[in-house]
Amino acid sequence: MTGIPLRRETVRTDDGLVSATPYPLRTDRLVLRMLREEDVDGLTAYRNDPQVARLQDWELPWPRERAERLVAEHAGRTDVLPGKGTQLAVDLDGELVGDLYVGLDEHCGVAEIGFSLAAAHQGRGYAVEAASAVVDDLVDRLGVHRVVAELSPDNVASARLLERLGMTFEHLAEKSFWWRGAWDDNLWYAMSADERRAWRERPRTAPEEVRLVGLTHENAWTYRRLRTHRTQERFVATMDQSFTDALFPEPEGGHPVLPVLRGIEADGEPAGFLMWADAVNEGTPDPYLCVRPGTPRWRPAGCRVAAGPSRSTSQRASSPPGTWRTVRSWPG
Ligand SMILES: CC(C)(COP(=O)(O)OP(=O)(O)OC[C@H]1O[C@@H](n2cnc3c(N)ncnc32)[C@H](O)[C@@H]1OP(=O)(O)O)[C@@H](O)C(=O)NCCC(=O)NCCS
Repeated sequence: MTGIPLRRETVRTDDGLVSATPYPLRTDRLVLRMLREEDVDGLTAYRNDPQVARLQDWELPWPRERAERLVAEHAGRTDVLPGKGTQLAVDLDGELVGDLYVGLDEHCGVAEIGFSLAAAHQGRGYAVEAASAVVDDLVDRLGVHRVVAELSPDNVASARLLERLGMTFEHLAEKSFWWRGAWDDNLWYAMSADERRAWRERPRTAPEEVRLVGLTHENAWTYRRLRTHRTQERFVATMDQSFTDALFPEPEGGHPVLPVLRGIEADGEPAGFLMWADAVNEGTPDPYLCVRPGTPRWRPAGCRVAAGPSRSTSQRASSPPGTWRTVRSWPG
């Protein structure tokens, strides 16, 4: 992905723009620009696609006049405006394939983002490529210190996109959003400018060394505080649930089990934990092996997260903490 221009001083011009001519922004495959006349047909078409509109805050049909009004509102603009919303066009080889909303507060401190892609162009990384460029511009050029997004709890594609940007789930606001005739729950995701920078600089390769470390009174809280991304909680238990499982293990086949917990340390940083247990006395002799995810920082670097307990004979309860050098890749 193309790097975005480095930080420049924010300039407030007479007409309220925050700098001279920052848009269009270019990425490897896309151009992010202001909406224009030729976009009206495309915008109207995909915004009326029930698949695109399903979890959005507009009703169908979405009138062509709204597209025309949006284009008119952006005429002559070359930047996002403080205290206003901007609907940016996502342009692929001259064709409008989606749009990206930026709501910048009047102090240029907090920006809200939202996005829509035409169905035919989803699943190719365009949304993350466009949103990364815009977010980096907000942070590096305009000095935005916090980026937020709100979404329906059912919108997994959107949550995954936000997590790909380095944003994390912040809270669920119950019955807070009036939507299609009823109060609906709303998820909030957020990221500070520092978190965005840390995410950009995260390791992209598998860690050199992955070690199992004993959990002690001193480090147990560090491991307990690790969180996986919210969308992964569909597949794995939270740290709290896992700690509870370890403290109060379910008997296997009527036999008590002896759980063993180890922290997973990747290049010296806590990255997850591992739990296994042997049925003691009589009963199933096989240990089971649970790999729990830790900080999302290591996910793209190759730490594997199991969707549940998997059987393994390679680690036994009596094994001392050791060093593993092989990690499997994490999809996405
Ligand atoms: C939310 C939305 C914009 C996400 O779009 P998306 O295309 O899924 O998002 P991304 O750009 O992050 O693409 C991710 C996918 O592209 C794939 N991808 C990433 N880079 C790629 C590349 N260079 N080439 C090909 N595929 C790539 C990823 O593997 C991922 O696929 P997967 O989801 O099957 O794992 C889209 O679902 C949408 O428009 N939904 C309707 C509107 C909506 O609800 N908006 C959100 C309101 S809150």
